[in-house]
Amino acid sequence: MKTVMISADAEDFEEKVQELGAVIRRGGLVGFPTETVYGLGGNALDAEAAKKIYAAKGRPSDNPLIVHVADAAQAETLAAELSPLERQLMRDFWPGPLTLVVPKKPVVPAETSGGLDTVALRCPVHPAVQALIRAAGVPIAGPSANLSGQPSPTSAEDVMRDLGGRIDAIIDGGPCRIGVESTIISCAGGRITIYRPGGLPKEALEAYAPVDIDPGIRSGSGHPKAPGMKYRHYAPSAPLTVYTGDAAKTEAAILSFGEKKDKTYGFFVSAETAARLPADAIVFVWGRRGDQQSMAHRLFEGLHYFNAHPVDQIIGEGTDDTGIGLAIMNRLTKASGYHIIVENAK
Ligand code: TXA
Ligand code: MG
Repeated sequence: MKTVMISADAEDFEEKVQELGAVIRRGGLVGFPTETVYGLGGNALDAEAAKKIYAAKGRPSDNPLIVHVADAAQAETLAAELSPLERQLMRDFWPGPLTLVVPKKPVVPAETSGGLDTVALRCPVHPAVQALIRAAGVPIAGPSANLSGQPSPTSAEDVMRDLGGRIDAIIDGGPCRIGVESTIISCAGGRITIYRPGGLPKEALEAYAPVDIDPGIRSGSGHPKAPGMKYRHYAPSAPLTVYTGDAAKTEAAILSFGEKKDKTYGFFVSAETAARLPADAIVFVWGRRGDQQSMAHRLFEGLHYFNAHPVDQIIGEGTDDTGIGLAIMNRLTKASGYHIIVENAK
């Protein structure tokens, strides 16, 4: 299969997106941009399309897909019930990086929901995906558009590299603004439980209800509520160790590897730390220290970088887990296989 790349900026995009909508309706697959990461879209109401998505990604089919809707009205057609809290969150945060897990209507096939009786609903921001959903006339099931186990794609080129030849088309909407996936929550019992920290910070939700984090995602041994959280995602080819905590001690710990010659080290660090590493060090700078927006934006690109520039060991500089830092550290925790070293101030 030849995968066509279509620019969201093309003058004839309005016409092209109608064709892509028809591709979705016919059971085809289209990669699409969102504010978080690129998605791999198929008709959410079509069991065969869901099976094709799993096959294209090489993803286990017990891992449910997020369903993308154009607005809250379309969400109502898929949810068996919505509470006042859920409706309020949709009003205040949609379109945006918040996904709600709610009881599903029978119209959502078991293949889409991974056999669960709930469905994850998300209303993404990018105008190209909004246009695609409207052109398709159906909600669009869309996991991140990477091969299973690879970092999530934050550019159309990332999608082409992983899924070129396996899907019908990719809409190039430029780099993703946020760079980490959406925050997934459940509002069951009138509390908010975060199943996956993401682009919408926990702090933004605290004004609405008490917020807990699913304990199943904190260690590798739990049973997370979002089935996908049990997999070791985003694993770069080389082992990764992440240092975080006290800034001066973290920097000193990382710099000590700059002098070591026992193996080839790669550094995923702030600009400040990078400036003090030897000139010949292999470095990917994620931004200025404390700039979590930049770090989220460049996180997956950085993990890809060390696949393209092979090293024996990656040394990462983390951040604190406030704001979007919670999502960043969650991804780094998984990417490192829980090799996080916290440097305490003394
Ligand atoms: O930002 C995002 O959410 C991106 C873009 C493309 O929208 N999508 C994304 O999808 O990250 P994916 O498939 O890579 O991750 C979806 C996560 C998985 O961990 C899955 O287990 C969980 O959502 N999930 C989906 N439906 C669920 C449900 N009904 N109950 C619990 N977890 C669910
Ligand atoms: Mg994913």
